[in-house]
Amino acid sequence: MTTQNPDSAQRNHSLDPDDWEQFRAMGHQMLDDMVDYIRTVRDRPVWQSPPAEARRALETGLPREPSSIEEVYARFKEHVLPYPTGNIHPRFWGWVMGNGTPVGLLSDLLASAMNCHVSGYDQAASLVEKQVVGWLAEMLDFPPGASGLLVSGGTVANLIGVTTARNHLSGTNVRKAGVGPASTGPLTVYGSVATHGWAERACDLMGLGSDGFRKVPVDAHDRIQLNELVRILQEDRRRGCKPLCIVGNAGTVATGATDDLNALADIAAADGLWFHVDGAFGALAKLSPKYRSLVSGLERADSVAFDLHKWGYLQYETGAVLVRDARIHEEAFSFAPSYLETFTGGIAVKPTEFASRGIQLSRGFRALRVWMNLSTYGIDKIGAAIERNIEDSQYLSATVDDHPDLELLAPTAMNVVCFRVKPAGLNEAELDALNSRTLVRLQESGIAVPSNARINGRFAIRVAHTNHRTIRTDFDLLIASVLDISGQLLGADRSGLGAMTWPTGPGRSTN
Ligand SMILES: Cc1ncc(COP(=O)(O)O)c(C=O)c1O
Repeated sequence: MTTQNPDSAQRNHSLDPDDWEQFRAMGHQMLDDMVDYIRTVRDRPVWQSPPAEARRALETGLPREPSSIEEVYARFKEHVLPYPTGNIHPRFWGWVMGNGTPVGLLSDLLASAMNCHVSGYDQAASLVEKQVVGWLAEMLDFPPGASGLLVSGGTVANLIGVTTARNHLSGTNVRKAGVGPASTGPLTVYGSVATHGWAERACDLMGLGSDGFRKVPVDAHDRIQLNELVRILQEDRRRGCKPLCIVGNAGTVATGATDDLNALADIAAADGLWFHVDGAFGALAKLSPKYRSLVSGLERADSVAFDLHKWGYLQYETGAVLVRDARIHEEAFSFAPSYLETFTGGIAVKPTEFASRGIQLSRGFRALRVWMNLSTYGIDKIGAAIERNIEDSQYLSATVDDHPDLELLAPTAMNVVCFRVKPAGLNEAELDALNSRTLVRLQESGIAVPSNARINGRFAIRVAHTNHRTIRTDFDLLIASVLDISGQLLGADRSGLGAMTWPTGPGRSTN
């Protein structure tokens, strides 16, 4: 009988490489390739659909046997890497997606090497997240003691904001007893019809039902109608509802409009309601000294949600929520199971510090990405890029306005431009068909990727500009391509346009 050397037996079960030098060489190769990939992004199509071969390669069964990392990387390069969303490209302006940064590439590598579990604990990763939350509060003019958390994105950040409102203001121990048939009546949340779809989903998840999100009409600039808000609040109270929270928009998803946040803060204060701001991208306008007044009043919110993976230009997933009152935030989510006991020494000092601010227990080190990007670029440079995005959006908007065959469908309040091609002689249905087909052809051409919106029922080509790589000639190419493609479509198929409909229907939200 042979006894195995325990060292080598253990090594056999480890996932570490047998040959670290070979692994290092592979890592260097990957990093070189990815730096080139980002540097040359402008030379490639913005987007292309994965071909049949790639689809087949990505449908194979569970791998039981090992493959070399070289082999797996070759498969990645052939079947995955060439077919991204495209949002790192200078001519991607669809939905609201950020580019990411080269610093983000490196910081994600570093965070992955450390692989910290950031529910809390006495460790540098928790100190980094605390520091980052303080920086974000300062960026948005929140008080220094404000609480906050990095999360996956705007949907979760908003959910945390309005759940804090529910738990603080429901009038019952809602965390324990649930919303049930409470004596307080149906709990309700208020925001404009232009609010992103997260609000109904959040009300659904909080047990209020999606009808618990009460939609208030907007004015011609997509801003909540204040008198209507007050009227609906009064009516709901008469019906026995218990209003909890007003949601203000800093940058609506369809048109980039911002509600009168100061007026909303006043109404919320007078009514004893929570004031939450969805600043998914708009909040970051605060970083531009020239345009920060566009989102004035945001700093008065009880909570604000925003995404650094949108206008903060960082990699996915980097959402953030700030809550003005740290005590209320913690009361809303505190969590102290016996298996995560707090000690006064050792590593488990405050093991649930961050888990008690949201819904995740296991959390990664996304704070490093924020910390490295903000430290490397500095806030002024990011603010200058945001300012340039706003001014380039105005440039695009003016170009559209000046062209006889183009039409703006909404005012350009910040960084979203909604327009359409409008050649003479077409009715509304034909214009919708022409513009939707133009958009799809444009995306398929690989030249540019805007997305769409419905503005008063009309199909708009929508450019949401959170792209730090775009230069003005990219917008010139966009306009030339839209005119060219729509001209070809018109020439080829004028009679068929009326039969076309856009398959997603007339929704407002686009992301
Ligand atoms: C205004 C607004 N709010 C919320 C969201 C949701 O954010 P996320 O996609 O990061 O969950 C978006 C996404 O585009 C948005 O534009």
